[in-house]
Amino acid sequence: MRKPLTMAMPKGRIFEEAAGLLRQAGYALPGSFEESRKLIVDVPEENIRFILAKPMDVPTYVEHGVADIGVAGKDVMLEEARDVYEVLDLQISACHMAVAALPGYEKGELNPKVASKYPNLAATYFKEQGEQVEIIKLNGSIELAPLIGLANRIVDIVSTGQTLVENGLAELEKIKPITSRLIVNPVSYRTRAVEIDEMVERLSTVVGGDVE
Ligand code: PRP
Repeated sequence: MRKPLTMAMPKGRIFEEAAGLLRQAGYALPGSFEESRKLIVDVPEENIRFILAKPMDVPTYVEHGVADIGVAGKDVMLEEARDVYEVLDLQISACHMAVAALPGYEKGELNPKVASKYPNLAATYFKEQGEQVEIIKLNGSIELAPLIGLANRIVDIVSTGQTLVENGLAELEKIKPITSRLIVNPVSYRTRAVEIDEMVERLSTVVGGDVE
């Protein structure tokens, strides 16, 4: 049998939606797939090996060719700028990137600071806006930053908006809509073209439908 196609999947909230999409596309994933804590899951029936990575790391595995394909959020793609092909908008995990602050915030503070898990994306955005700010990189719980005075504004993902509401923050500007993408290693795109094209085709037919 041919070497399995290796697919990097993002652990966490996108994983179930991505797995649901693959099932809808007819890939026979084991029932325990989503519950398992294993980081490498072989599905010999489909000749696919799944690796479960941190969402931010998926493009790294794909760029280095240890995964042929992967599922990565547009947020991660914009932040990481990896040398991979983005071949399909999976239209799952829809949310948007936004600037938020405490209500009543007005620009013009002396040393503007912005906290974010996405320092490159945030820096690009403020540069485009012609505003000079200091970006403070955090790894999570970004909404804390304005509450305790680390930064006046944040750049973060807004999905339901619940986190902003519960922490008394308000959205100031929408930066970009975000969905998950199917990404491919450029070499694999040539050497595994048949399997990859088939997957893109099968996923394209279910994208936009109800995901289990
Ligand atoms: C993300 C994001 C927001 C929250 C938005 O955080 O950073 O904090 O979800 O979702 P909502 O609009 O539906 O409330 P995540 O849960 O991934 O954890 P993190 O704080 O560790 O980044």
